[in-house]
Amino acid sequence: MKFLQTLIVFSCLSTTLLAQNQITLNVDLAEHQISRHIYGHFSEHLGRCIYGGFYVGENNELIPNNKGMRTDVVNALKKLNIPNLRWPGGCFADTYHWKDGIGVKEKRPTIVNTWWGGITEDNSFGTHEFLELCQQLETAPFISGNVGSGTVQELADWVQYTNADHKSPMTKLRIENGQKDPWNVKYWGLGNEAWGCGGNMRAEYYADLYRQYATYLTAAAKGSDIYRIAAGSSSGDVKWTEVLMKNIPLKLMEGISLHHYAVIDWSAKGPSTTFEEDIYFKTMTKALAMDDHIQAHSNIMDKYDPEKKVGLIVDEWGGWYEVEPETNPGFLYQQNTMRDAMIAGTTLNTFNNHCERVKMANLAQTINVLQAVILTDKEKMLLTPTYHVLELYKVHQDAKMIPIHVKSADYQLGDKRLKAISASASVNEEGKVHISLVNIHASTTQEVRVAVRGMEVNSISGRILTADRLQAHNTFDAPNTVQTSDFDGAKLDGEEILLSIPAFSVVVFALN
Ligand code: AHR
Repeated sequence: MKFLQTLIVFSCLSTTLLAQNQITLNVDLAEHQISRHIYGHFSEHLGRCIYGGFYVGENNELIPNNKGMRTDVVNALKKLNIPNLRWPGGCFADTYHWKDGIGVKEKRPTIVNTWWGGITEDNSFGTHEFLELCQQLETAPFISGNVGSGTVQELADWVQYTNADHKSPMTKLRIENGQKDPWNVKYWGLGNEAWGCGGNMRAEYYADLYRQYATYLTAAAKGSDIYRIAAGSSSGDVKWTEVLMKNIPLKLMEGISLHHYAVIDWSAKGPSTTFEEDIYFKTMTKALAMDDHIQAHSNIMDKYDPEKKVGLIVDEWGGWYEVEPETNPGFLYQQNTMRDAMIAGTTLNTFNNHCERVKMANLAQTINVLQAVILTDKEKMLLTPTYHVLELYKVHQDAKMIPIHVKSADYQLGDKRLKAISASASVNEEGKVHISLVNIHASTTQEVRVAVRGMEVNSISGRILTADRLQAHNTFDAPNTVQTSDFDGAKLDGEEILLSIPAFSVVVFALN
């Protein structure tokens, strides 16, 4: 009798456990494309992102390079299919005068990088070098123009320099500097964080300034295909978005940006690796807030642009912690753990699911700064957990988003709750379906039941990123501590899929 009771209790319990997370995929309703540009990157003249990260100089004999660009870094990034690269900032962009960075290197003026560490910038990496890097990476350049301390003419000249093929002063200068054909740069940001480091402007003032800059930038582009991005808001500041959407004619703008960092407290950001669960929980609360922010800004954009012509461009996102001990506080160099993998996986799911409005996003930043995908130390290089998430998720690039319904168990800490499971799915041109799932729970495996409507599933294959502790990370001495492996926690159960996803892991699987 006791055995029977135990059996009944156990079987009820296991049914409840299996039902704790339920996902429904509507493959037949896939309609909107997940722009590959959601998987974009960001490289600022900040710390060791450009110098020592991407670029080591043409005459460097110690670190293998092609025209100064690190070969190891370029090869690793190409494996991510990185679709675009934003440059030169960030806050640096509104202090950058592009003509300082062209022509004979020895003659280029030096400046002081006033935002980041007060170090001397020798301008050896400028427009030609950036566009050479983009060509090596086979990625689209995204240039952030100087509105805060530049002039309208200066930005118009820059566009003419990169895009004009007719006879013009800037074409002549470009050819003199060794580049005959224009590069045809499509993506242009007009200022950065205009409400803060980009000039501490009021939204109304910036909207007027934007109209002026966009007018002359467009004229200078003379028929080349350009995509103009207004410097948008931070996190939940919807008023900024409202003023811009109201005051900038839609014909002058293709995108409006949004920045949101997963930072627990700007005055006490906490360490990158030695955090406890309460800090982890706070970080994830901030990271998951991305969904609310996108929804709030989208609601406003829908009011002024119901046809969704203007893209929401999340051109800075990621985790932000205290710098590593004994490193320059102005260099924003931080390690990257499974916590960062959780931020990346959940945020990319959010972008995928909002792909009707979110047309581009840029992780901050690619190398050695904030939530980097690559860290370097002289000739050494390592791939972070965040790199592995982007590598797993690249299957979603340009695929159609599958509407998904997720019923998730709670991840509870004290009296606070978050959803344990985040997910998104897509179907590519060949009809292959991919699902990405994140279990953010710090200690409990999640059983997930997935119902797939609109397709017959014959087999499942997948990969997982997981580790033995949340704080796990890769170091130069142990660069493969965190890496992906085959996922064997999925099985078919009639018409459904049963998954068992370990605590703090990211899984991407394909249905065949
Ligand atoms: O990514 C670091 C900085 O964060 C950027 O320069 C700025 O735009 C933001 O505040």
